[in-house]
Amino acid sequence: MASEYEVYDLLYALVRLLKPKVILETGTYKGGATKAMAKAAKENGMGFLWTCDTDAKKLTEAAEFAGVVNSDGIWWGADLCTGLELCSKAENVDLAFIDSSGDRVAEVAALNLAPGGVVVLHDSKRPQYEPIKLLRPWKAIWEVDTIQGLAIFQS
Ligand SMILES: C[S@@+](CC[C@H](N)C(=O)[O-])C[C@H]1O[C@@H](n2cnc3c(N)ncnc32)[C@H](O)[C@@H]1O
Repeated sequence: MASEYEVYDLLYALVRLLKPKVILETGTYKGGATKAMAKAAKENGMGFLWTCDTDAKKLTEAAEFAGVVNSDGIWWGADLCTGLELCSKAENVDLAFIDSSGDRVAEVAALNLAPGGVVVLHDSKRPQYEPIKLLRPWKAIWEVDTIQGLAIFQS
């Protein structure tokens, strides 16, 4: 399922504000968040987004949808792999959007965050994601009280 349009707006704004060099998304789906973050990276003139999904068809759809941002540069890439695999191999992640249907707790635990790196967790009201709060001594946690919940952690 796609995230809310307002979440895409928020992700766009965070990328514009934080100017991350390394951006990561788990769970590409149809590329809504991918497009928003890649557009912001393009407008920043810096940063690269890695996204992943285990469903190859979704990655094709996302490439069609978000491809427009690549017209004069490449600002994102996609991997057919699990979120856990992507989180384990990416280094110095400045901004991560955790939104796969896999094990999101394991994904956040595996992240190699840059100092001050930010994690945006979708659906944070689900009780199974509660352990994420205790994974590390976060500098800040902002729990946004939306219907599904959205939590923003800074390391
Ligand atoms: C909630 S949707 C992602 C929505 C998308 N981020 C957006 O904002 O529009 C979850 C996606 O995770 C994918 N998925 C399922 N298991 C996965 C895993 N272990 N790792 C990565 N992606 C996975 C599904 O195929 C689905 O496309």
